[in-house]
Amino acid sequence: MTASPVLRAEGVSREFGRGETVTKVLHDCHLEVYAGQTVAIVGKSGSGKSTFANCLSGLDRPTGGRITLLGQDLAELDEPRMARMRAEHIGFVLQKDNLVPTLTLEENVAAPLIMSGVKLSAALERARAALAEVGLTHRARSWPGQVSGGEAQRAAVARACVSEPAIVFADEPTGALDEENGLRVQELLRAMVKERGAATVIITHDLDLAAGADVVATMTAGTLRAAGRVF
Ligand SMILES: Nc1ncnc2c1ncn2[C@@H]1O[C@H](COP(=O)(O)OP(=O)(O)OP(=O)(O)O)[C@@H](O)[C@H]1O
Ligand SMILES: [Mg+2]
Repeated sequence: MTASPVLRAEGVSREFGRGETVTKVLHDCHLEVYAGQTVAIVGKSGSGKSTFANCLSGLDRPTGGRITLLGQDLAELDEPRMARMRAEHIGFVLQKDNLVPTLTLEENVAAPLIMSGVKLSAALERARAALAEVGLTHRARSWPGQVSGGEAQRAAVARACVSEPAIVFADEPTGALDEENGLRVQELLRAMVKERGAATVIITHDLDLAAGADVVATMTAGTLRAAGRVF
């Protein structure tokens, strides 16, 4: 028996604007991501990688095609149900500005749990355990403005994984870091998703980061071509 994918994108397109000024950014993109799998999406700046990831993770809606997450067609969800789907089943790490500046690190990490109905005290306890996994126990009560870029990204990894999501999206997660901090964030992300059996979609310019993936998909002017890695 073949397991069904965590995420399936079928014929996804995204246009911006309308009439004569319409810009077609994505054309007929297909992708399947299975539990435990890491998919890297590479491609030139402006090719549509973030647009695609935003559609896949329910932050944006495609103008054509279908995205199914855990068997649920995302187009059928209204905004409150989509927000709940994101809090419960999807983790995100962006290039920077992942954290809410007016919340401490532990409150930031607890936020997805609280949004999915976990009680405050239990959510904070799980947040502190996730922060410990990324080596930030001593920073749990710090504000995002008081920590380094690498620490903020490590906290973002903890937040992305704390609710045991089915899939984690990382859009240039190491893009704003130096090599050493980038590697640390990359390793922590890999370890945390592996331990939870989650799928990962990583968008990156970094070919070393892409080389560790099970599947590398290349976005070229809005068209995605996936190449499975041969073991
Ligand atoms: N809201 C929008 N309205 C109009 N055009 C948009 C919008 N969002 C993105 N685009 C266009 O879509 C194209 C793809 O953008 P996107 O951010 O997906 O690229 P990317 O591959 O992630 O690039 P980078 O590697 O620089 O992050 C760009 O030409 C961009 O200008
Ligand atoms: Mg981008």
